[in-house]
Parts: sequence; C-alpha cells; structure tokens
Amino acid sequence: MIEMIPVAYPLIGEDEVLAVSEVLKSGMLAQGKNVARFEEEFASYIGVEHAVATSSGTAALDVALKAIGIGEGDEVIVPSFTFIASANSILFQGARPVFVDVDRTTFNIDPDDLLEKITPKTKAVIGVHLFGHPFDLKAIGEICDDHNLYLIEDAAQAHGAEYNGKRVGGFGTIGCFSFYATKNMTTGEGGMITTDDDELAGRCRLIRSHGEREKYNHTILGYNLRMTDIQAAIGIIQLRKLEEFNRKRIKNAEYLNRHLRMEGLITPHKKGEVKHVYHQYVIKLEDDFPMSRDAFCEYLRSNGVGCAVHYPIPIYEQPLYQQLGYGEQRCPVASALARKVLSLPVHPALTEEDLGHIIEVINNL
Ligand SMILES: Cc1ncc(COP(=O)(O)O)c(C=O)c1O
Repeated sequence: MIEMIPVAYPLIGEDEVLAVSEVLKSGMLAQGKNVARFEEEFASYIGVEHAVATSSGTAALDVALKAIGIGEGDEVIVPSFTFIASANSILFQGARPVFVDVDRTTFNIDPDDLLEKITPKTKAVIGVHLFGHPFDLKAIGEICDDHNLYLIEDAAQAHGAEYNGKRVGGFGTIGCFSFYATKNMTTGEGGMITTDDDELAGRCRLIRSHGEREKYNHTILGYNLRMTDIQAAIGIIQLRKLEEFNRKRIKNAEYLNRHLRMEGLITPHKKGEVKHVYHQYVIKLEDDFPMSRDAFCEYLRSNGVGCAVHYPIPIYEQPLYQQLGYGEQRCPVASALARKVLSLPVHPALTEEDLGHIIEVINNL
C-alpha cells in the first residue's frame, strides 16, 4: 500500500508532551494560570490589549457576537464561501446571516457585493481571512465605519497573517481564532478572542464562564465555554513555534507555485499588501484542466498525495440553510469556486521529498 502524504498534520513535540504532563501532575486542570499566561502572550503576539481563551473557535465567535449584542431582528453579513461555523454563530444569536459573494482570486469577502447587501437591519460584518489570506481590511473597514457596523474578523485560519505589516485579529471590533488540530497552531480544540475594547473583553469573560464576576456571583447569563490549562499549556508552546511553522508553510507554498505546471491548474493568488500564511494551499481547476476534480483527487490519493475540498458547497446551499429558506440566494463566484477548488498538502511537516513527490505526481499526469 502507498503511504499517503496527509493534507494536514499537527506538529507536536516533546516540549508540548512535557508541558501537558506538568499540568496533569499539578492538580489544576481546568482554566487556571496557564490559560491566563496563554491569553497574555497571544494578546501581545497579535498586538491587542486583550485575549480571551475559549473551548473552540466556534465558541469564540459565539461569545464575541453575544458580547457585541447581536440578537433577534439583526442581520449579520458573512461570506458564502467559508466553514459553516462562521455563519452558524449568527444563527445561534437568533439573528439572520446574509450571505455575500467572494473575490474570485483571493476567495475572500467582496466589498462591492457587501455594499449591495447592507440594509437598515445590518448590525455587523463577519470577514473571514480564508485559507490564511487576509481579506481587504481597508475596503471592508471603511464600509463598516461608513455604515456604523461592527467588524468581526474570523481569523480561525490566519494566525500570524499580516495586512500592511500588522497581524490580523487586531483590525476589527473583535477577532476570533481557532486552535483546532489542523490549524497553523493547535491546542487540539480551542479558540481565542482578541480585542482592544476593555468593556467588550470583560463581557466576553463573563459570557465564557456563567456570567460569573467573582466566585458564585453571577451577573449575566453565560455558558461554560472555557479552555482548560491542559490546552493552554500546549498553546503557549505552539505560539512560540508559530512563526517557524508559518515560515515553512510559505516556503512550501512558494515551492509548489514555482514547480506546478499543468494546463488549467491555477495556483493560489497572494496580494502584495498581505502576509499569506497558507492555512490551506488551494488550487483552482479551470475548464481546460484535463480531468474532473473527482478523478484528479482519486489519481492523487492513489499516488500517495492527500487532498481535500474546502469547501464543496456554498453555505446557503447547505441542507440546513435550504431548510431555513435560503433557496433563492445566489453568489455566483462562491458557487463556481465550490466546483473548482482543491487543497493540496502545504503543512510544515512536509519534507523536501514529499514536495518533490507532489510535484512529480501532478506534473506527470
Ligand atoms: C473560518 C473558520 N471559522 C470558524 C471555525 C471554527 O473553529 P473550531 O473548529 O475551533 O470551532 C473554523 C474551523 O475550522 C474555521 O475554519
């Protein structure tokens, strides 16, 4: 059997193992001093005043939207081409997701279509730094300012990505990160909220933990969406490795860009003003590509190259959203991309041999 180069692979070293075992032996497993330290170090890395750790990226979005005050009757604009959590966080507040189309080259939120989708009910915009490429923060930021809208940065796939030299997660009202196992840095499961707003950060802390201001004094309705000290111990070490992980992702992506030669295969686009951290390396297969995407995936896998489709269905076409009455929605670019995109391995665990094999398999098609 051919061994498969996986499309994602978490890099965990002995130092993470040691840190976890220290927490396990300490008797303090739940949210404690490791979470506090991870928050402090993450806030400083992103360049914001506050970071609030959560149990997942989905929890981060949920807490952030609730803290901002999104609720019934509100509309929140979100790209149609992203992971479903970006939109579901709006549904969880009883608000209505309004889907906006994406740019055909960066796959990110399209400012022109965003303008078309704003109504008197619009309260916020969730921009997603998809696949590690920052969205157009200047254009989207200006639209949000002009229309008095909150801007939520979904940076679940963009730890360490930069826009004009500044790290994402510090541009909008609030930023949300995920530390799921496949992300640029991981805690297994986990999330982080980033903001410069003291009051908003305080509300996030309350919502994350039963609205508890001090021990057994509950001032608002909250959940238990806390991170454990076990996860935070991993996160502290992964954060120190993040720049090196990203450097390798960028190097791997540049290698693939230089060597992939196939008609109809378009390598990922990167705008000049951004640092793209290649959470995924997403190619497009145009009509002149010699095979169907399904057949190409099968060919890759049978030759030991893992691949995946991010994402095969625009969110409004998902069965859940069809049941919610989104049948008439049309985002033509998102619909076309869903049929064309394919993610190839780019993670930092790839060896030179792996990269050479990926190129050989594709160029010899
Ligand atoms: C764009 C985006 N938003 C939100 C999330 C949710 O994060 P989590 O899986 O940690 O809940 C993800 C995770 O895959 C994501 O890719």
